Amino acid sequence: MKLNNGIKLTWLGHATYKIEVEDNTLLIDPWVDSNPVCPDKLKTFEKLDAIILTHGHADHMVDAIPIAKKYTPTVVGIIEIAKWLENKGVENTIGFNKGGTVTVCGVKVTMVTANHSSSITEDDGTIAYLGEAAGIILEFANGYKIYHAGDTNVFGDMKIIGEIYQPDLALLPIGDHFTMGPREAAYATQLLNIPSVIPMHYGTFPILTGTVEEFRKLTASQDVNIYEMQIGETLE
Ligand code: NI
Ligand code: MN
Repeated sequence: MKLNNGIKLTWLGHATYKIEVEDNTLLIDPWVDSNPVCPDKLKTFEKLDAIILTHGHADHMVDAIPIAKKYTPTVVGIIEIAKWLENKGVENTIGFNKGGTVTVCGVKVTMVTANHSSSITEDDGTIAYLGEAAGIILEFANGYKIYHAGDTNVFGDMKIIGEIYQPDLALLPIGDHFTMGPREAAYATQLLNIPSVIPMHYGTFPILTGTVEEFRKLTASQDVNIYEMQIGETLE
């Protein structure tokens, strides 16, 4: 599968993606060091200009603080997460909310809804709730649009997301248990009316039982290209 001119997308496993565009490196949902499936060579970066967060769960954000302190990127996420990170000494945060768009590294980032929860366990064992879980739409300068759904089940407003933003590519969770599995994801592709989908958030650990094979079977009647990206693979 090919992406539009000049955009490089690398899968670090689970819901973590690195995007390189015009000299900028962006990281979505940084679960890197403790991510059991992330290849070692992808655990460090030459530089990092932005981190984009969908929600606060450990498998999306546990490495955000050390990575942000090491590479000093702009960190973008829902207002509660931005504030929480600020309190932990992370600089250059941008907090916003659903429906809003911010521009980082020349990429327009719009926060859209997701149907999930958002929390993190503090060092003392208490749970901090971090606002709501979200999805994001990335719109690149050349017009190409990627929808990263975050963690979610299927919801009817995916139709609205598809109609308003008309993404070219969706990164959809299919693993089941913590997110939708293949059955709901197949319905999501229909609601989104999306040309291409890359499945994510499956196979990381045994409990995430959804498979690409089943997702493919359930979307067979739809006009959608399901691309099974490999961990560590870069599309450009
Ligand atoms: Ni989650
Ligand atoms: Mn997750």
